[in-house]
Amino acid sequence: MHSSSSAILVAVLALASCVAAQSASATGSATASAAPASVTHVITVANNQTADNGTAVFTPQSVNASLHDTVIFNFTEGTHSATQSTFANPCIPAHDTNSTINGFNSDLRPAGNGTAITQLVIVMNPDIINDTLWFFDQSTCGIGGVGVINAGNVTATWEPLDAFVRNAIRLNGTASTSSAAPASTGGSSGSSGSSGGSSGTSSSDGGSGSNSTGAALAVRVAPTVVLAPLLALAAALLV
Ligand SMILES: *[C@@H]1O[C@H](CO)[C@@H](O)[C@H](O)[C@H]1NC(C)=O
Ligand SMILES: *[C@@H]1O[C@H](CO)[C@@H](O)[C@H](O)[C@H]1NC(C)=O
Ligand SMILES: *[C@@H]1O[C@H](CO)[C@@H](O)[C@H](O)[C@H]1NC(C)=O
Ligand SMILES: *[C@@H]1O[C@H](CO)[C@@H](O)[C@H](O)[C@H]1NC(C)=O
Ligand SMILES: *[C@@H]1O[C@H](CO)[C@@H](O)[C@H](O)[C@H]1NC(C)=O
Ligand SMILES: *[C@@H]1O[C@H](CO)[C@@H](O)[C@H](O)[C@H]1NC(C)=O
Ligand SMILES: *[C@@H]1O[C@H](CO)[C@@H](O)[C@H](O)[C@H]1NC(C)=O
Ligand SMILES: *[C@@H]1O[C@H](CO)[C@@H](O)[C@H](O)[C@H]1NC(C)=O
Ligand SMILES: *[C@@H]1O[C@H](CO)[C@@H](O)[C@H](O)[C@H]1NC(C)=O
Ligand SMILES: *[C@@H]1O[C@H](CO)[C@@H](O)[C@H](O)[C@H]1NC(C)=O
Repeated sequence: MHSSSSAILVAVLALASCVAAQSASATGSATASAAPASVTHVITVANNQTADNGTAVFTPQSVNASLHDTVIFNFTEGTHSATQSTFANPCIPAHDTNSTINGFNSDLRPAGNGTAITQLVIVMNPDIINDTLWFFDQSTCGIGGVGVINAGNVTATWEPLDAFVRNAIRLNGTASTSSAAPASTGGSSGSSGSSGGSSGTSSSDGGSGSNSTGAALAVRVAPTVVLAPLLALAAALLV
């Protein structure tokens, strides 16, 4: 773990200086070429949180990146991570729930009060360019400290960012400890069992007056009812 972390750090530093050099030269000359220029997208990772709202720990929370673009997580404040996960399990590293995904993971980065700023650099290579890359912060996932690279066409996927935020809060928020009991339908419902439970598991969450819980599962159960307001919310968040 330590060796891979430091290897990543070395790679990150190398790429960061590379990117800095590229952007410096890019701003210097505005010449147009045939191939579209690659773009650098910076996501600031900072203590932008309240006790129950971590949705601005990553700013912006959602980016679209094209082939050969670079996404830089800039850890400027506090102790946070940028860890790839999956839509169904927002606060668990992707590799832990799907071993075929070799997701990125900065591990927790102490940035102090801007005194130890570091970057995690993701290059949008062909192997990941068509994937939606969900990610979370290990410190604030349960209050919505999550984000996404290339959410794609959420009308087709039914997986908008705001539903991902609700999943994170539902599964890892403070309320999740008291509502953890409903997961007892089978035997051990550990890390891998959730993908099979797409039907019927949300009944206890979806009662009248529920505020944020269960919405992501409810979409799959009753799409025609939930679609319009959901899309409105997604549009508001993603624009
Ligand atoms: C997040 O925090 C950073 C650093 O403190 C600040 O520059 C940025 O404006 C903040 N963003 C929001 C949305 O509050
Ligand atoms: C959480 O904070 C963000 C900005 O930091 C704000 O846009 C959003 O409305 C807040 N969400 C809730 C549920 O308060
Ligand atoms: C990261 O944030 C620091 C502090 O705001 C800033 O000086 C630096 O330029 C940022 N790095 C990148 C790659 O944007
Ligand atoms: C695991 O990830 C791969 C690659 O993204 C995907 O094709 C596959 O459907 C995933 N498996 C499950 C069970 O979600
Ligand atoms: C963080 O840094 C800012 C700017 O240097 C300073 O004004 C502030 O007092 C610092 N806060 C802490 C808790 O050190
Ligand atoms: C990604 O999608 C584009 C457009 O559909 C396709 O041309 C390309 O082959 C895909 N790349 C991979 C690695 O699947
Ligand atoms: C979220 O909850 C799951 C299940 O309890 C746990 O395995 C995971 O470590 C938690 N994630 C975080 C970031 O605390
Ligand atoms: C990303 O692209 C999708 C279309 O694929 C669009 O709906 C969405 O608004 C874009 N998001 C951002 C943050 O630009
Ligand atoms: C998004 O998906 C919907 C539903 O599949 C489809 O009707 C629409 O044309 C797609 N939009 C784009 C820009 O591909
Ligand atoms: C949401 O529901 C939880 C659990 O019932 C409750 O503790 C919390 O106060 C509610 N939040 C809002 C904004 O209604």
